[in-house]
Amino acid sequence: MSNSTNEKIIAIDGPAGSGKSTIAKALAKKLNLDYLDTGAMYRAVSFISIQQNIDVLDEKKVLAIAKEMDFNFEDGICVVNGFDATRDIRGSEVTRVVSVVAAMPTVRQEMVDRQRLWVKEKGGGVVEGRDIGSVVFPKAKVKVYLTASEEVRAERRIEQEETLDASRVADSIRKRDEADKGRLNSPLVRSEGAIEIDTSLMGVEETIEEILGLFKWK
Ligand code: DC
Repeated sequence: MSNSTNEKIIAIDGPAGSGKSTIAKALAKKLNLDYLDTGAMYRAVSFISIQQNIDVLDEKKVLAIAKEMDFNFEDGICVVNGFDATRDIRGSEVTRVVSVVAAMPTVRQEMVDRQRLWVKEKGGGVVEGRDIGSVVFPKAKVKVYLTASEEVRAERRIEQEETLDASRVADSIRKRDEADKGRLNSPLVRSEGAIEIDTSLMGVEETIEEILGLFKWK
Protein backbone atom coordinates (compact mmCIF):
# COMPACT_ATOMS: atom_id res chain seq x y z
CA MET A 1 0.00 0.00 0.00
CA SER A 2 1.19 3.54 -0.69
CA ASN A 3 0.58 4.91 2.79
CA SER A 4 3.93 3.99 4.28
CA THR A 5 4.81 6.16 7.23
CA ASN A 6 7.89 7.45 5.37
CA GLU A 7 5.75 9.55 3.10
CA LYS A 8 5.05 13.08 4.25
CA ILE A 9 1.29 12.86 4.40
CA ILE A 10 -0.91 15.32 6.23
CA ALA A 11 -4.52 14.12 6.34
CA ILE A 12 -7.13 16.79 6.97
CA ASP A 13 -10.77 15.80 7.48
CA GLY A 14 -13.84 17.61 8.70
CA PRO A 15 -17.32 18.75 7.71
CA ALA A 16 -18.17 21.35 5.06
CA GLY A 17 -16.95 24.84 5.93
CA SER A 18 -14.63 23.71 8.71
CA GLY A 19 -11.71 25.40 6.94
CA LYS A 20 -10.12 22.31 5.35
CA SER A 21 -9.33 23.79 1.93
CA THR A 22 -7.93 27.07 3.22
CA ILE A 23 -5.79 25.38 5.84
CA ALA A 24 -4.64 22.53 3.57
CA LYS A 25 -3.63 24.93 0.81
CA ALA A 26 -1.71 27.24 3.16
CA LEU A 27 -0.05 24.33 4.93
CA ALA A 28 1.06 22.78 1.64
CA LYS A 29 2.58 26.08 0.56
CA LYS A 30 4.43 26.48 3.84
CA LEU A 31 5.81 22.94 3.78
CA ASN A 32 6.46 22.91 0.04
CA LEU A 33 4.18 19.92 -0.44
CA ASP A 34 1.49 19.27 -3.03
CA TYR A 35 -2.15 19.70 -2.09
CA LEU A 36 -5.08 17.51 -3.07
CA ASP A 37 -8.74 18.42 -2.57
CA THR A 38 -10.48 15.03 -2.71
CA GLY A 39 -13.93 16.63 -2.52
CA ALA A 40 -13.12 18.12 -5.94
CA MET A 41 -12.79 14.55 -7.27
CA TYR A 42 -16.30 13.56 -6.13
CA ARG A 43 -17.56 16.88 -7.45
CA ALA A 44 -15.88 16.27 -10.82
CA VAL A 45 -17.57 12.85 -11.16
CA SER A 46 -20.90 14.49 -10.30
CA PHE A 47 -20.29 17.31 -12.77
CA ILE A 48 -19.47 14.99 -15.69
CA SER A 49 -22.46 12.77 -14.83
CA ILE A 50 -24.79 15.78 -14.94
CA GLN A 51 -23.15 17.07 -18.11
CA GLN A 52 -23.64 13.70 -19.82
CA ASN A 53 -27.21 13.37 -18.58
CA ILE A 54 -26.43 10.25 -16.58
CA ASP A 55 -28.88 9.17 -13.87
CA VAL A 56 -26.85 10.01 -10.74
CA LEU A 57 -28.60 7.19 -8.86
CA ASP A 58 -27.24 4.62 -11.31
CA GLU A 59 -24.00 3.49 -9.66
CA LYS A 60 -22.77 1.47 -12.65
CA LYS A 61 -23.07 4.42 -14.99
CA VAL A 62 -21.54 6.84 -12.50
CA LEU A 63 -18.66 4.40 -11.92
CA ALA A 64 -18.02 4.24 -15.66
CA ILE A 65 -17.77 8.05 -15.69
CA ALA A 66 -15.42 7.92 -12.68
CA LYS A 67 -13.15 5.32 -14.30
CA GLU A 68 -12.92 7.18 -17.61
CA MET A 69 -12.47 10.59 -16.04
CA ASP A 70 -9.18 12.36 -16.61
CA PHE A 71 -8.74 14.39 -13.43
CA ASN A 72 -5.91 16.76 -12.73
CA PHE A 73 -5.59 18.97 -9.67
CA GLU A 74 -2.69 21.40 -9.69
CA ASP A 75 -2.32 24.64 -7.69
CA GLY A 76 -6.03 24.68 -6.91
CA ILE A 77 -6.97 24.40 -10.60
CA CYS A 78 -9.16 21.43 -11.37
CA VAL A 79 -8.93 20.16 -14.95
CA VAL A 80 -11.48 17.48 -15.84
CA ASN A 81 -11.31 15.71 -19.19
CA GLY A 82 -9.08 18.51 -20.48
CA PHE A 83 -11.46 21.28 -19.38
CA ASP A 84 -10.93 23.78 -16.54
CA ALA A 85 -13.87 22.86 -14.30
CA THR A 86 -12.68 24.72 -11.18
CA ARG A 87 -15.80 26.89 -11.06
CA ASP A 88 -18.33 24.42 -12.47
CA ILE A 89 -17.68 21.78 -9.83
CA ARG A 90 -18.75 24.32 -7.17
CA GLY A 91 -22.10 24.94 -8.84
CA SER A 92 -25.34 24.38 -6.92
CA GLU A 93 -26.46 21.41 -9.05
CA VAL A 94 -23.21 19.57 -8.33
CA THR A 95 -23.43 20.46 -4.63
CA ARG A 96 -26.96 19.03 -4.57
CA VAL A 97 -26.03 15.58 -5.92
CA VAL A 98 -22.45 15.11 -4.75
CA SER A 99 -23.37 13.35 -1.47
CA VAL A 100 -25.25 10.71 -3.44
CA VAL A 101 -22.27 10.09 -5.70
CA ALA A 102 -19.85 10.12 -2.75
CA ALA A 103 -21.90 7.44 -0.98
CA MET A 104 -21.37 4.90 -3.80
CA PRO A 105 -18.86 2.26 -2.64
CA THR A 106 -17.45 1.46 -6.10
CA VAL A 107 -16.99 5.13 -6.95
CA ARG A 108 -15.25 5.69 -3.61
CA GLN A 109 -12.89 2.79 -4.24
CA GLU A 110 -11.91 4.27 -7.61
CA MET A 111 -11.28 7.67 -6.00
CA VAL A 112 -9.33 6.18 -3.08
CA ASP A 113 -7.08 4.25 -5.51
CA ARG A 114 -6.40 7.46 -7.41
CA GLN A 115 -5.68 9.39 -4.20
CA ARG A 116 -3.14 6.78 -3.08
CA LEU A 117 -1.49 6.81 -6.49
CA TRP A 118 -1.34 10.61 -6.47
CA VAL A 119 0.47 10.59 -3.09
CA LYS A 120 2.82 7.86 -4.24
CA GLU A 121 3.78 9.83 -7.34
CA LYS A 122 4.21 13.08 -5.40
CA GLY A 123 6.03 11.39 -2.51
CA GLY A 124 3.54 12.83 -0.02
CA GLY A 125 1.21 15.77 0.23
CA VAL A 126 -1.51 17.55 2.13
CA VAL A 127 -4.75 15.69 1.41
CA GLU A 128 -8.14 16.92 2.55
CA GLY A 129 -11.53 15.24 2.57
CA ARG A 130 -13.80 13.20 4.81
CA ASP A 131 -12.14 9.77 5.01
CA ILE A 132 -8.46 10.62 4.55
CA GLY A 133 -7.32 9.78 8.09
CA SER A 134 -9.78 6.92 8.56
CA VAL A 135 -9.61 5.06 5.23
CA VAL A 136 -7.26 6.50 2.62
CA PHE A 137 -4.15 7.11 4.75
CA PRO A 138 -4.78 5.70 8.22
CA LYS A 139 -1.02 5.74 8.83
CA ALA A 140 -0.50 9.37 7.83
CA LYS A 141 2.13 11.11 9.92
CA VAL A 142 -0.24 13.91 10.81
CA LYS A 143 -4.00 13.57 11.10
CA VAL A 144 -6.17 16.59 11.77
CA TYR A 145 -9.93 16.78 12.22
CA LEU A 146 -11.16 20.34 11.75
CA THR A 147 -14.49 21.53 13.12
CA ALA A 148 -16.29 24.84 13.50
CA SER A 149 -19.71 25.89 14.74
CA GLU A 150 -22.64 25.55 12.32
CA GLU A 151 -22.98 29.35 12.13
CA VAL A 152 -19.34 29.91 11.24
CA ARG A 153 -19.35 27.12 8.65
CA ALA A 154 -22.41 28.57 6.96
CA GLU A 155 -20.86 32.07 6.96
CA ARG A 156 -17.72 30.74 5.25
CA ARG A 157 -19.71 28.97 2.54
CA ILE A 158 -21.80 32.09 1.96
CA GLU A 159 -18.58 34.02 1.31
CA GLN A 160 -17.18 31.26 -0.95
CA GLU A 161 -20.35 30.92 -2.97
CA GLU A 162 -20.92 34.68 -3.10
CA THR A 163 -24.59 34.25 -2.21
CA LEU A 164 -26.92 36.15 0.07
CA ASP A 165 -29.25 33.22 0.63
CA ALA A 166 -28.00 32.33 4.11
CA SER A 167 -30.78 29.91 5.05
CA ARG A 168 -30.35 27.92 1.81
CA VAL A 169 -26.60 27.57 2.46
CA ALA A 170 -27.09 26.55 6.09
CA ASP A 171 -29.69 24.01 5.04
CA SER A 172 -27.50 22.59 2.27
CA ILE A 173 -24.53 22.21 4.66
CA ARG A 174 -26.70 20.49 7.27
CA LYS A 175 -28.11 18.02 4.75
CA ARG A 176 -24.69 17.25 3.32
CA ASP A 177 -23.15 16.73 6.77
CA GLU A 178 -25.96 14.36 7.70
CA ALA A 179 -25.46 12.39 4.48
CA ASP A 180 -21.65 12.32 4.86
CA LYS A 181 -21.77 11.26 8.52
CA GLY A 182 -24.64 8.83 8.15
CA ARG A 183 -23.58 6.83 5.10
CA LEU A 184 -22.52 3.20 5.48
CA ASN A 185 -19.36 3.50 3.41
CA SER A 186 -16.48 5.58 4.84
CA PRO A 187 -18.63 8.02 6.82
CA LEU A 188 -17.15 11.27 8.04
CA VAL A 189 -15.60 10.51 11.43
CA ARG A 190 -12.74 11.77 13.50
CA SER A 191 -10.26 8.97 12.87
CA GLU A 192 -8.15 7.30 15.52
CA GLY A 193 -5.19 9.48 16.36
CA ALA A 194 -6.57 12.58 14.67
CA ILE A 195 -6.13 15.86 16.52
CA GLU A 196 -9.36 17.86 16.62
CA ILE A 197 -9.09 21.60 16.13
CA ASP A 198 -12.11 23.90 16.41
CA THR A 199 -11.43 26.74 13.96
CA SER A 200 -14.53 28.80 14.82
CA LEU A 201 -12.52 31.52 16.51
CA MET A 202 -9.14 30.87 14.95
CA GLY A 203 -7.42 32.59 12.04
CA VAL A 204 -5.58 30.72 9.29
CA GLU A 205 -2.09 31.47 10.64
CA GLU A 206 -3.04 30.44 14.16
CA THR A 207 -4.50 27.14 12.94
CA ILE A 208 -1.44 26.42 10.84
CA GLU A 209 0.91 27.15 13.72
CA GLU A 210 -1.07 24.75 15.88
CA ILE A 211 -0.82 22.00 13.26
CA LEU A 212 2.89 22.63 12.67
CA GLY A 213 3.43 22.32 16.40
CA LEU A 214 2.07 18.77 16.25
CA PHE A 215 4.98 17.18 14.43
CA LYS A 216 8.54 17.27 13.18
CA TRP A 217 9.46 15.55 9.92
CA LYS A 218 12.46 13.31 10.46
O1 DC B 1 -15.33 19.14 0.52
P1 DC B 1 -16.45 19.26 -0.50
O2 DC B 1 -17.65 20.01 0.00
O3 DC B 1 -15.99 19.78 -1.82
O4 DC B 1 -16.92 17.74 -0.74
C1 DC B 1 -17.92 17.42 -1.66
C2 DC B 1 -18.65 16.17 -1.21
O5 DC B 1 -17.81 15.03 -1.37
C3 DC B 1 -19.16 16.15 0.22
O6 DC B 1 -20.52 15.80 0.24
C4 DC B 1 -18.38 15.09 0.91
C5 DC B 1 -17.82 14.24 -0.19
N1 DC B 1 -16.45 13.80 0.08
C6 DC B 1 -16.31 12.52 0.53
O7 DC B 1 -17.28 11.81 0.74
N2 DC B 1 -15.05 12.04 0.75
C7 DC B 1 -13.98 12.81 0.56
N3 DC B 1 -12.76 12.32 0.78
C8 DC B 1 -14.14 14.14 0.11
C9 DC B 1 -15.41 14.62 -0.10
